[in-house]
Amino acid sequence: MSGNDNQHFKTREVRAGVRPDPVTGAILTPIYQTTTYVQESVDQYLEKGYSYSRSGNPTVSALEAKITALEGGAGSLCFATGMAATSCTIMGMVGSSDHVILSDVVYGGTHRVTTKVLNRWGLECSFVDTADPQNVANAIRDNTKLIFTETPANPTLKLAFRTWSTTLS
Ligand SMILES: Cc1ncc(COP(=O)(O)O)c(C=O)c1O
Repeated sequence: MSGNDNQHFKTREVRAGVRPDPVTGAILTPIYQTTTYVQESVDQYLEKGYSYSRSGNPTVSALEAKITALEGGAGSLCFATGMAATSCTIMGMVGSSDHVILSDVVYGGTHRVTTKVLNRWGLECSFVDTADPQNVANAIRDNTKLIFTETPANPTLKLAFRTWSTTLS
């Protein structure tokens, strides 16, 4: 069973991303506590897609699929901590001398990693009130590579504007 646009939110909450366990038939996804996986062959590995749990784990995959279905997104990645997610996202998407627009109410760790660590490699940051898409539009530069928000913000619970993609395009 996977996410389906025809299903209501509560149905997707329960069903999205959940597939019966192929070994036992268990309806709910088991918690796979393994780090590594037996590899019978390269072809079977490519089909299953799991080699090491840091890069992929069936329990985490089920959670990612469920979040994607609930948010109606293109995909999701789950991390063990918030700052792992933040750091990995920013470092994975920008290079030196690129520009990032961030919400003015980002978590303190997000502010520190961008202005005290990644700035040493030339990252440029603008902090704007992302509740209003016009502020984001005004901050865009030729070298802007990423618009980063946390919503609801911690600790202010301020919300970012949700439909930027259509507003800014
Ligand atoms: C918005 C936000 N980002 C990042 C973090 C950091 O999370 P962690 O302590 O799991 O690294 C927090 C923690 O409260 C948070 O609220």
